[in-house]
Amino acid sequence: MISLTDVQKHFGKLHVLRDINLEIPRGQVVIVIGPSGSGKSTLCRAINRLEPIDSGIVAIDGKPLPAEGKALAALRADVGMVFQSFNLFSHKTVVENVMLGPTKVRKVPRAKAHSRALELLERVGVASQADKYPAALSGGQQQRVAIARALAMDPKVMLFDEPTSALDPEMVNEVLDVMTALAKGGMTMVVVTHEMGFARHAGDRVLFMADGQILEDTEPATFFANPATERARDFLGKILGH
Ligand SMILES: Nc1ncnc2c1ncn2[C@@H]1O[C@H](COP(=O)(O)OP(=O)(O)OP(=O)(O)O)[C@@H](O)[C@H]1O
Ligand SMILES: [Mg+2]
Repeated sequence: MISLTDVQKHFGKLHVLRDINLEIPRGQVVIVIGPSGSGKSTLCRAINRLEPIDSGIVAIDGKPLPAEGKALAALRADVGMVFQSFNLFSHKTVVENVMLGPTKVRKVPRAKAHSRALELLERVGVASQADKYPAALSGGQQQRVAIARALAMDPKVMLFDEPTSALDPEMVNEVLDVMTALAKGGMTMVVVTHEMGFARHAGDRVLFMADGQILEDTEPATFFANPATERARDFLGKILGH
């Protein structure tokens, strides 16, 4: 479903993605963890070409991502992305936020886009907020709207970059529950998160990154019980230690 072959990326002299080789089959839920600055966000952004790479191949569903232009826009629409900051349009209502992609990019008629948007808002538990503006919603609700908005494009893959780290603690679970349901429903997902409970229960695979490299690539149970590298042991000690 997603394949990265010999991907390299620099920011100036900084080598932020080193020799990334990765095959993610359909339906797999991949958790990406690692210290700050290890390249997790850059990896996500490389997957949908928000960030150009220096060399290598990123392919979605067997099709290499073109560098730019219409073909890129079309393929990028197959990849839904949810960020730490919810990035909803503040001057549009919740339901309009969810309708925007389908009506503008996919040319779906408004009535159809509207009913689908309500369905998705129902699925993430915020249908009652449909006609409010984002500012009237809690962080957890806004993030669930952001997930519904990404799903509205019928993505083949969903990327989540620390989707709960800007949330108040009591709102984290409501977002993780939506993500868990998506995972159980068979969505292919790449999730950068330090939520270890979610990683264990919903993840099929953990990638541990450090210094732009994938140092470990294993099942969650194995990773948490028995990390293979000193870097991962050190990292887990820090995040599980408090
Ligand atoms: N646009 C940019 N220009 C220059 N350097 C950048 C840019 N974006 C990221 N970097 C650098 O690239 C490295 C990897 O950044 P990245 O954001 O991918 O890390 P991360 O693992 O997501 O970290 P965090 O856990 O803090 O989100 C860091 O050293 C960062 O400072
Ligand atoms: Mg990051």
